[in-house]
Amino acid sequence: MKKSLRSCSSQKSDSALVHVPVLLEEVLKYLLTGPKGMYLDASCGGGGHSEAILLKLAPEGRLICCDRDEQALEYCGKRLKKFKGKVIFARINFKNIGSYLQDLKTDRVSGFLFDLGMSSIQLDDPERGFSYSKDGPLDMRMDLSQKKKAFDVVNFYPLEKLIQIFQKYGEEKRAKLIAKAIVEKRERDKIKTTKQLRDLVQSKVNPRHRIKSLSKIFQAVRIEVNDELDELKEGLNQAIKFLRPGGRLCVISYHSLEDRLVKSTFKLYSKGCICPPTFPKCVCGWEKLLKILTKKPVVPDKTEKEKNPRAKSAKLRACEKSVSIKRLANEKIS
Ligand SMILES: C[S@@+](CC[C@H](N)C(=O)[O-])C[C@H]1O[C@@H](n2cnc3c(N)ncnc32)[C@H](O)[C@@H]1O
Repeated sequence: MKKSLRSCSSQKSDSALVHVPVLLEEVLKYLLTGPKGMYLDASCGGGGHSEAILLKLAPEGRLICCDRDEQALEYCGKRLKKFKGKVIFARINFKNIGSYLQDLKTDRVSGFLFDLGMSSIQLDDPERGFSYSKDGPLDMRMDLSQKKKAFDVVNFYPLEKLIQIFQKYGEEKRAKLIAKAIVEKRERDKIKTTKQLRDLVQSKVNPRHRIKSLSKIFQAVRIEVNDELDELKEGLNQAIKFLRPGGRLCVISYHSLEDRLVKSTFKLYSKGCICPPTFPKCVCGWEKLLKILTKKPVVPDKTEKEKNPRAKSAKLRACEKSVSIKRLANEKIS
């Protein structure tokens, strides 16, 4: 195992160090509706949730483990070797879930899990460039075959676009100041490392808000590099389309932008007719596709937050596909 695969939020098990899955019991409770179903883990990462799901499945049950990160799949392949025959691996991103399932000729998925963001495997490896607390190249790609890196965003995006990204994806108040400092610096010499970016951000914010601003700016660049919000939006649409009636969709998010998107998507598909109340008859044809199972998001308890710092900001939302659907979901979701 590569040294970088050993994570900070990790635990000893069978002499190996493994990623600690967040809200594990809660995910199993909401996701699993039967041991013989076909489930899809859209973000298998360190394989923690996947392993727990596989342990609950009957021999006829199946789990498709997906990730856009080759290293994550390699790691899961080794970790989940003992479930051979029950597990399938696929290197796909959220946007391609639909076409992948279409190729498999299945529209009967019993449950989808999306555990968003980065794994400890990615975060703890300085070479991946995700962390402001470790020095490494400005990379931040989840999919290492992708061309665009954090280096390109930081060094080549126009000032206005940088400001927009820091405001929109980082919700950072000092977006303009930080973006201007970046542009000034890169005119003299390119910004190549996470430490250089960290130093620039730090030089423009109040030391009291240093950590918050660093997280926000690094988050903003990461979201842009990996097109995370569009990926999520499309992934959720695809999952809803391919869920079987009675099947479940569970999403764990780690920041408000993701959570808002999950909440609004669930809300949209859990609505019935959306015609104005003055219309005598429904013309929209919109039908309730989802039942929301978590009125409020499920969050980790104190013990979990203490044991696993990564869990601190986690929010789990779950919904169920409605059983009686008169019209096919794909008429609406495309
Ligand atoms: C928080 S980790 C998952 C951890 C995992 N549940 C576990 O228990 O070990 C998130 C994973 O999702 C993957 N990921 C994030 N966005 C993705 C996307 N749009 N498509 C596919 N995988 C994605 C990342 O590469 C990462 O490995």
